[in-house]
Amino acid sequence: MPKITYIEHSGQSHTIEVPKELSVMEGALQNNIPGIDADCGGACACATCHVYVDEKWFDKLQKKEDAEQDMLDMAFEPKKFSRLACQITTTNELDGLVVKVPSKQA
Ligand code: FES
Repeated sequence: MPKITYIEHSGQSHTIEVPKELSVMEGALQNNIPGIDADCGGACACATCHVYVDEKWFDKLQKKEDAEQDMLDMAFEPKKFSRLACQITTTNELDGLVVKVPSKQA
């Protein structure tokens, strides 16, 4: 099972196994990772699952759809490596993925 590391804004790190085909957001919710609220349930309509993807992993992710980019444009402090965790599907290739939670979601 792929391991995903979630790093809170405080620096607290959580490495958990997330079943393939779940989203990075779903993995966070099922493991009570602080700061990923997912208010819209994964419909790409809230940006409360905003994360900063570790730079070395960013290009390995599935490409963003326009709807995700539109939502990220409205997110708090989007950065170059921002993604919505609900739009990242966990795969074996993403074993070791690292994402950070923005300060606003602390
Ligand atoms: S859960 Fe709402 S945009 Fe990801």
